[in-house]
Amino acid sequence: MIKSNKITYHDFRTPNNIRFGQDTFYTLPEEVKRFNANKAVIVSDKGILSTGLIDEAKKLLEHEGLTVTLFTDIQGEPSFSLLQNATREIEASKTDIVIGIGGGSAMDTAKTIAALLGKEDIQPYLSGNETIPERTIPCILLPTTSGTGAEVTMNAIFGDEEQSVKRGLVSPALLPDMAIIDPNLTLSCPPRVTAASGVDAFTHALESFVAVRANTLTKMYSEKAMELFPKHIHNAVQNGSNVGARIGMSLVSNYAGIALANAGVGAVHALAYPLGGTYHIEHGVANALLLPFVFEVTGKTCTPEMVRVAALLKLGDFTDHPDQALNAIVHFLYQLLPDLDLPTSLEELGVDSNALPTLAEQAFKVTRLLSNTPYRLTEQKILEIYRNAFKGKNE
Ligand SMILES: NC(=O)c1ccc[n+]([C@@H]2O[C@H](COP(=O)([O-])OP(=O)(O)OC[C@H]3O[C@@H](n4cnc5c(N)ncnc54)[C@H](O)[C@@H]3O)[C@@H](O)[C@H]2O)c1
Repeated sequence: MIKSNKITYHDFRTPNNIRFGQDTFYTLPEEVKRFNANKAVIVSDKGILSTGLIDEAKKLLEHEGLTVTLFTDIQGEPSFSLLQNATREIEASKTDIVIGIGGGSAMDTAKTIAALLGKEDIQPYLSGNETIPERTIPCILLPTTSGTGAEVTMNAIFGDEEQSVKRGLVSPALLPDMAIIDPNLTLSCPPRVTAASGVDAFTHALESFVAVRANTLTKMYSEKAMELFPKHIHNAVQNGSNVGARIGMSLVSNYAGIALANAGVGAVHALAYPLGGTYHIEHGVANALLLPFVFEVTGKTCTPEMVRVAALLKLGDFTDHPDQALNAIVHFLYQLLPDLDLPTSLEELGVDSNALPTLAEQAFKVTRLLSNTPYRLTEQKILEIYRNAFKGKNE
């Protein structure tokens, strides 16, 4: 019997192995050797390089007889032109494996390079016209922020300089073979990055929880991430050497990343992309600021989920008055910004008020994410959200 259309299903993808634990960084060489690699490239950025971590990784790998080259020319969040230059440079070194160590910027660059190496014409993949087929060589990712979850997602985000926006590449080829999550690697993460990437992880959890593509399995991960988040975020930001808080936030990031990879995110990210592309506002900072302003609109369509989220955040039991759950969540999200020393308005971030209509026009084109949001945002509504975020909230 041939059954053709209307088979409904969902896939659930993760790297082949997600290793989580303190000091798992030191297991990197044995894992690299499993791939029979002789030549490795470590992709990272200047900030991580200055912590000494990359030199340590290089020494560990060289001790096992590997030849190691470094690509650490990433400054700020990566663009497509940086990606192209890096791919060309690394192609010349004929490496057997790519190891990405860093935050989302380094990991996105690393996994995309591992997927693009050796492919003849990469332009159709970069433009998004074609999905990257198979990854060319093995890839292992180690996050140093908590975080983007990029070590477990099939997305990679780059700045499109021509269009002044950020754009995501999506392909199973962007999942690494292995994610090694050692919370100790986040101990050196500065407070602002800890705060911004921490709220970014929460954004992944919340947006994936209400996403059109969410399912029972992804919701389990979203829920666990949201439950852990308020227990650890303040400690991680205010006392970066608190190992318990770093472990907690690494779990938040990992669970939220798995949910994001399989359910996708929504409007908060869609509105953040033009801010990253035009004003180079860090991804986590843009998401953290937009989160309450977007959710006070989009959250209206998912009241039962808002009751659940409020319970997970320990904001109260809203079963008998569900319409009040969203207000409590939005208040919690606004309050996070000053509490974590994050910017509280787009004006504070140097955004020009005259540019808001253009930003709204660009955000409205991010249909991949807007269509995954359980609220149909018009361009006018997006502009209204930007205007509110520009002013900030005086609660
Ligand atoms: N692929 C995905 O699924 C996904 C998801 C969300 C965001 N992203 C992308 O990830 C990027 C943002 O990543 P991020 O928020 O992790 O920040 P990041 O990688 O840009 O790092 C921010 C800064 O923190 C420094 N840093 C990071 N870890 C450190 C540590 N342990 N000690 C000292 N310094 C450290 C870096 O050197 C850098 O200067 C953006 O480009 C965003 O679009 C990707």
